[in-house]
Amino acid sequence: MSQLEVQHVSQTLGGVNIIEDICITVQAGSIACLLGPSGCGKTTLFHIIAGLATPYQGTIVLDGKEITGTPGKLAYMLQKDLLLAHKTILANVALPLLLRGVPKCEAYEHARSLFGVFGLEGTDQRWPSELSGGMRQRVALLRSYLFNNDFMLLDEPFSALDAFTKADMHRWFLQVAEELGTTALVVTHDIDEAVLLSDRMYVMRGAPQRGIPTCIAGEVEIAHPRSDRKDFGLSEDFILAKRSVMELLRADQDDAR
Ligand SMILES: Nc1ncnc2c1ncn2[C@@H]1O[C@H](COP(=O)(O)OP(=O)(O)OP(=O)(O)O)[C@@H](O)[C@H]1O
Ligand SMILES: [Mg+2]
Repeated sequence: MSQLEVQHVSQTLGGVNIIEDICITVQAGSIACLLGPSGCGKTTLFHIIAGLATPYQGTIVLDGKEITGTPGKLAYMLQKDLLLAHKTILANVALPLLLRGVPKCEAYEHARSLFGVFGLEGTDQRWPSELSGGMRQRVALLRSYLFNNDFMLLDEPFSALDAFTKADMHRWFLQVAEELGTTALVVTHDIDEAVLLSDRMYVMRGAPQRGIPTCIAGEVEIAHPRSDRKDFGLSEDFILAKRSVMELLRADQDDAR
């Protein structure tokens, strides 16, 4: 399990200040959500954390070691699932192991052993086009998990799903995260999703396209244990947390006027 620290990260793209002085800590074994409106710079920040881009300023620290600009240290599930259409589900899932040099038989066996946990029984020889949206997301999550099971960066993992599938996926994700002891940072613009999944939420504020670089407006802790979130969505704790987030977002709108 890994602890991630994003320290004073700023980024400029094409002469525009996108994000400014972003600080985030994700404790080992916890789930944090990064919540912000479309275009505020969430994916930009994820590219930096994943080491795919170097920030203009700031550092990324994993377990006390600086990893700024170093790819391959964290699992990164991109905003689109990007499954390879011409490969079977098993081959898609096992890809990170094969890239790491694990022999094919061993890689397939290890990947197959997790199909049950990820709700993918019986799909190993199917093609991505034959699966539902929710199943494809689970395939992508399993592939990210096999890439690195210490820390997962998930960019809007459930945003393309309908409300029913999404609710199922939330329940499933909480259960699997608990079972596997996952540490994750999840990007979303769905407030309910963030409150439901997080131990801590970071709310982003800004509109870089309008010349307002994005910063962290505030953070909200969710004290309600993650192992007991079955009816959490109907509880007072949930409403209180949601209200705190909305107040941070509202302050953002007031500032913009
Ligand atoms: N290479 C680039 N050059 C200039 N501007 C860029 C570049 N890449 C992204 N941007 C701008 O940076 C801002 C943040 O983009 P980003 O994709 O990080 O947003 P996001 O919060 O992930 O949005 P969404 O929720 O829609 O995925 C946008 O205004 C975008 O137009
Ligand atoms: Mg994005």
